[in-house]
Amino acid sequence: MTADVILRVRGLRASIAGQQVVEDVTFDVPAHGITALLGRNGVGKTSTLRAIMGLIQRHGEVRLAGERIDGLLTHRIAGRGVGYVPEDREVFAGLTVAENLALAERGRHPRRDLVAALFPDLVARRAQRAGTLSGGQQQMVSVARALLNENRILLVDEPTKGLAPKIVAEVAEALEEAAKTVPILLVEQNLEVVRRLAGDAVVIAGGRVVHTGPAAAILDDPGMTRRLLGVHVDGIPLDGADA
Ligand SMILES: Nc1ncnc2c1ncn2[C@@H]1O[C@H](COP(=O)(O)OP(=O)(O)OP(=O)(O)O)[C@@H](O)[C@H]1O
Ligand SMILES: [Mg+2]
Repeated sequence: MTADVILRVRGLRASIAGQQVVEDVTFDVPAHGITALLGRNGVGKTSTLRAIMGLIQRHGEVRLAGERIDGLLTHRIAGRGVGYVPEDREVFAGLTVAENLALAERGRHPRRDLVAALFPDLVARRAQRAGTLSGGQQQMVSVARALLNENRILLVDEPTKGLAPKIVAEVAEALEEAAKTVPILLVEQNLEVVRRLAGDAVVIAGGRVVHTGPAAAILDDPGMTRRLLGVHVDGIPLDGADA
């Protein structure tokens, strides 16, 4: 069982500005495929990823392939092979696509061929300033940066947020391809995307994990999606998911 787990999180707690936003989070991420991290707005999904990355003060146990990483500084965690694609993409708007990618290269053998194969559109736009890309293209840059390095897992936060449906499908396809090379922990509010991509899902409510299991089983349970994810079965958000 342990051999199949790439990231093991036990009793993770974290506070922001004196308020506990991650209460007691425990889950495993399998070493293959995409695992969804789900929950209503403000339950602590982003904070959980930031705590794993050491970007906010945290307590508890986090193991990458069996080794503790919860005491390490962020750059060391990244150096161990935890790639992070943050919620707001955070591309350098004034730099070109090629410059954005070059700045992300960490090891001696950046996987430029893999990135070029996955994102031909970025190759075509390598001289374009990232700030002039569409939201979807900026998301591709953000994912491509993480894929350039030999990561052991990617933490990807709401990659389809604010994108047009056609672009959502493109980003989903890119993630599906990426997941063939590296396991992904994916925060995603678009349940169609979750259904398409995720094998397992972890549901957070009130800063704690309240459910884990196959993603399809959670999505097929209208009571659970309404109660824990804040959506109707028809996929329309109850409480302003885009806020
Ligand atoms: N910098 C901050 N200062 C104060 N409170 C914060 C800060 N960042 C997050 N919080 C609070 O921490 C809680 C968890 O936020 P977090 O961003 O982790 O939730 P989330 O599940 O990612 O939400 P969303 O679905 O809206 O992205 C929220 O109540 C939020 O208001
Ligand atoms: Mg968030």
